[in-house]
Amino acid sequence: MVTPISCSVSERPSCAVGEGADGLVRLVILQSQENSLDNVVVGVVGTGLMGVGIATQSALHGYRTIVHDVDAERLASVMPKAEAVLDELIDAGRIDAIAKRTALAHIETHATLETMAAAQFVIEAIPEVLELKHGVYASLAQLLADDAILTSNTSGFTPDQLAAPLRAKERFLITHFWNPPHMIPLVEVVPGMATDLHVTEQTVALMSAIGMEAVVLTKAIPGFVGNRLQFAVLREALNIVRSGAATPEVVDRVVKASLGRRWGVVGPLEGADLGGLDTFLDISTHLMPELAKDEEVLTLLRKKVDAGRVGVRSGAGFYDWDDAHLTLVKEGRKKLISRG
Ligand SMILES: NC(=O)c1ccc[n+]([C@@H]2O[C@H](COP(=O)([O-])OP(=O)(O)OC[C@H]3O[C@@H](n4cnc5c(N)ncnc54)[C@H](O)[C@@H]3O)[C@@H](O)[C@H]2O)c1
Repeated sequence: MVTPISCSVSERPSCAVGEGADGLVRLVILQSQENSLDNVVVGVVGTGLMGVGIATQSALHGYRTIVHDVDAERLASVMPKAEAVLDELIDAGRIDAIAKRTALAHIETHATLETMAAAQFVIEAIPEVLELKHGVYASLAQLLADDAILTSNTSGFTPDQLAAPLRAKERFLITHFWNPPHMIPLVEVVPGMATDLHVTEQTVALMSAIGMEAVVLTKAIPGFVGNRLQFAVLREALNIVRSGAATPEVVDRVVKASLGRRWGVVGPLEGADLGGLDTFLDISTHLMPELAKDEEVLTLLRKKVDAGRVGVRSGAGFYDWDDAHLTLVKEGRKKLISRG
């Protein structure tokens, strides 16, 4: 149960920002509101792995999208990379060639940050280095219109850490996209202490307008929600492999044939409700003490990394990555994208 604590438009039933009665972190889903988002210009600063994906998603949904990077090569690679994303969507039957052409026409690359002055919504996607991000914010503060919203795609910094040098803290928040945005719709929206509720609402509305599924956290915690869950599962997967109870292949098959399917329909807490909380309590009482709780499991990862087996990039990790295996993954990815 989430208790609304404040709403800028109190009549709007979708306004559900609040906190749980037990004070624990809550994900609150805000429905997108009616908004005049039609003429919004989206800015993306940093055109690496995430920036290109975010910009493509924005352009695909009809937004003029201006992008900037300090690295000329990275900037030059934006259009071919955006094209590759759009081709993957065509291949999966999600868009046609006209949509691709229109999307590409909505992306503008610029070598200077000053161009961001034209944007009402700027997403920063530069490396995870606090000083670097603060430097860009200081420059953006001189450029952006008073009503512009600035967000960060940070993986780990809190909104208050990031907003520290900003005067307009009320117009800053986190939008944490997942990679790649055209396949994984989640955006974790994390407002800071000073973020205006209306800014959070506008951000959620824009994320929805560019085809993303935005959820709002009521408190910033390391890893937000998605990565905490991902790494909790990874820790136990490593623990199982290390114990010798199952091979990496078996662990992955178990997940794909059970949890992977179920979690596409119901989340872990819905699943517990469906299974019966009394039953889940009984199982948890004897099973949870058995699960890994420390970082000892990291030794398994360290051994692989020290041996140069870093995964697909080196050709091997837990698996030897030959073409056949990669093709299987690509086919699975195509199926997922085609489902939308
Ligand atoms: N890689 C992921 O899977 C992932 C997922 C979610 C969030 N993130 C977060 O997104 C952000 C970007 O990550 P990434 O993986 O795209 O990084 P990346 O290294 O691929 O790209 C960063 C880009 O920023 C550019 N850049 C550096 N300084 C700049 C400046 N001052 N002005 C303009 N551009 C500048 C670089 O030239 C580079 O092209 C990070 O905060 C990261 O933690 C990454």
